[in-house]
Amino acid sequence: MGNYADEINRRRTFAIISHPDAGKTTLTEKFLLYGGAINLAGSVKGKATARHAVSDWMQIEKERGISVTSSVLQFSYDGFCINILDTPGHQDFSEDTYRTLMAADSAVMVIDASKGVEAQTRKLFKVCVMRHIPIFTFINKMDRDANDTFELLDDIEKELGIATCPVNWPIGSGKNFKGVYERESRCVITYADTEKGTKEGHATRIPFAETENLAAQIGEDFLSQLTDEIELLDGASASFDLEQVRAGNLTPVFFGSALTNFGVEIFLQHFLKMTTTPLPRRADIGLVDPVEHDFSAFVFKIQANMNKAHRDRIAFMRICSGRFDVNEEVRHVQGGRVMRLSQPQQIMADERKILSEAYAGDIIGVFDPGIFSIGDTVCMPGEQFAYEGIPTFAPEHFARVRQVDTMKRKQFVKGIMQIAQEGAIQIFQEFNTGMEEIIVGVVGVLQFDVLKYRLENEYNVEIKLENLPYEYIRWIENKDIDLDKLTGTSDMKKIKDLKNNPLLLFINQWSIGMTVDRNEGLILSEFGRT
Ligand code: G4P
Repeated sequence: MGNYADEINRRRTFAIISHPDAGKTTLTEKFLLYGGAINLAGSVKGKATARHAVSDWMQIEKERGISVTSSVLQFSYDGFCINILDTPGHQDFSEDTYRTLMAADSAVMVIDASKGVEAQTRKLFKVCVMRHIPIFTFINKMDRDANDTFELLDDIEKELGIATCPVNWPIGSGKNFKGVYERESRCVITYADTEKGTKEGHATRIPFAETENLAAQIGEDFLSQLTDEIELLDGASASFDLEQVRAGNLTPVFFGSALTNFGVEIFLQHFLKMTTTPLPRRADIGLVDPVEHDFSAFVFKIQANMNKAHRDRIAFMRICSGRFDVNEEVRHVQGGRVMRLSQPQQIMADERKILSEAYAGDIIGVFDPGIFSIGDTVCMPGEQFAYEGIPTFAPEHFARVRQVDTMKRKQFVKGIMQIAQEGAIQIFQEFNTGMEEIIVGVVGVLQFDVLKYRLENEYNVEIKLENLPYEYIRWIENKDIDLDKLTGTSDMKKIKDLKNNPLLLFINQWSIGMTVDRNEGLILSEFGRT
């Protein structure tokens, strides 16, 4: 064990997930404000600038004013070193959004109090559940009229299938938002709309037992309603159990208003107490302990062409154990070579900082001359092991790709294979043919445009995309299945991936159920393995 256990143990690495517009960016800004990373929220990640500043590398992002990639932010608060993995906040998110969750030890789910659980949250949540990572819920926008609190909790439990445990409880909402009741301390923290961009709050803390004082602050009616609700809550909700939280079975719930900066610090304080230090990771040698083991990391994302002139790529790695020292050589396990990682950097919102060291829990980006693939392991030269692969997430949009100029076959295949290797798209073939018919699958439709743009600009190949009607893909888990004997529905299509694994495409969920019913023992999976 190195003498850097303290450095590792003070790290907290989490991803923020939400449906667009729930307030993820605003909440992140407020976190940074408390961390003292910046003085004024908005100066680093002000919406208009952030979307260009974070990843200004691709024309398509500029044209559309959206960020295709995600970034990592680091700040300190109360002795903790916190890494926030931000995920693209627009509708057309990509597989990268999912992969980012593979690098986090916990997730913060932001929900709009007037909307409840929305589509994108549901999708991202599934990945968190698959990994059994702790999930913390921040119900935002309490300064606007909100849904009934019990209904909001019910919605989370029913929609996402996770038990909820409110850490605090809102008193009113919208114009009548009075504050929150903190269950552990049995205190009411009154709402104060702080000036935008400052952390100076005017909120006061009043013990629930001080009835008169409280009634004067929040009014008799709200006090009486709160008293009833607390009684109901204490009787009905799941009791707080840290082990259940850490196993991802119970989500602590917080209420607040990121915009007016209320409830954010309360959240941060509780969250940091409940969340874990960097977690051990599963590898082919067993669980790798972040503190006991020397440096190791895995690649979870590859970002291409940040500098078009050099056609370079950046491989993003999550450090899983030990300390990374820029002067030491490391082994790239899958590439079979010992090397020095070049230009290791921390990707901040609007700047890149060259690093000399980093610790388990941190995310680094390293220059990639085209040797890394998603899921690759890097460790000390004297070691040889591999982390569990990152699953392939089910694409939801499919298109047949054809090159316009058939003479450019070689560039076309090379380009599309490279882009697939980076993980931006997945490629499939018709079940009974070879590479002449390529089917592309993507998680977000924007990736189709990215593919077209990149093939034209980097490989000089023009393509035509013909959209296919399928929305669901399933990997076949049974190794011994006879595909010719499989009885599917009329809309089902058999395809294969580049490793010849058979897959099924469906237009709707109903057909999936029918196919499973008609073929005894057939096991279909939503996730593939790299
Ligand atoms: P996102 O990253 O999840 O997509 O959401 P973002 O933080 O960008 O917030 C979306 C909109 O919701 C923004 O307004 C933001 O100001 C607003 N918002 C965020 N938190 C709260 C909150 O607690 N209360 C209220 N009332 N609004 C909130 P916008 O008008 O779309 O953008 P902007 O012009 O204000 O930047």
